[in-house]
Amino acid sequence: MTSQLSVRGLCKAYGEVVVADQIEIDLGHGGCLGVIGPNGAGKSSLFHLLTGTVMPDAGTIRLAGRELAGLPAHARARLGVARAFQVPQAFGHLSVFENALAAATFGAGLRGDAAAAAAMQALERCGLARHAERVAGALGLLDRKRLEVAKGIAAAPKLLLLDEVAGGLTEREVQVVVDLVRELKRSYAVIWIEHIPHALKAVADRVMVLHFGRKLLEDTPAAVMDSAIVREIYMGIPADAAAA
Ligand SMILES: Nc1ncnc2c1ncn2[C@@H]1O[C@H](COP(=O)(O)OP(=O)(O)O)[C@@H](O)[C@H]1O
Ligand SMILES: [Mg+2]
Repeated sequence: MTSQLSVRGLCKAYGEVVVADQIEIDLGHGGCLGVIGPNGAGKSSLFHLLTGTVMPDAGTIRLAGRELAGLPAHARARLGVARAFQVPQAFGHLSVFENALAAATFGAGLRGDAAAAAAMQALERCGLARHAERVAGALGLLDRKRLEVAKGIAAAPKLLLLDEVAGGLTEREVQVVVDLVRELKRSYAVIWIEHIPHALKAVADRVMVLHFGRKLLEDTPAAVMDSAIVREIYMGIPADAAAA
């Protein structure tokens, strides 16, 4: 696997609270790394560090051969980092199309027809083309989540960061998102924070487990979900007892 994303020794602490402790990630072009971990594990912080809204204390972040760690968020966006937020961040008073257009303009740096075409393509890919003229604030939760993803891909990313894009959805809606992410991971390096085991099993090539900013485990989704470590940190069953 040639690495599209290569993270080495990534560290960040807020005083005593360590949110990233020597994190290492390798991800190829066209692949999906799932991320799980209890509340406060440092999952969202990892995305802040990758996007540049928070600067690391130490470590390197190489994307397609470029070093990102010292760069501000807008520069990283231009170099191909896009994020779909856990709580959808659309401009509610603008149309669905205008939201995607803003991402193509400010994220990908496109103008005019090229920006409009990229925006429309992103909406089509996410199943939102028929809602293009609707006001974003009027969308239901699934479509707001899909718009969050569409804005991400309209920004022409190399690395697509998905923060609980299936969270809060019904089982049928989760399946829609699973199919979407499975299709998208063919084009982008995807990191997907999600709490739904079967969704990650269906899409992720590997899953990593974060706890207190540390990567405790990285393996296939099935191996991770069955691991004693995951049972311990989610259900309080000591790993020793589970192994015995
Ligand atoms: N800007 C900040 N200042 C101080 N503590 C923070 C800040 N951002 C996050 N934290 C703390 O870091 C820990 C990890 O947070 P976060 O990455 O949001 O966790 P997760 O997304 O895994 O639930 C939490 O304990 C949180 O309170
Ligand atoms: Mg979070």
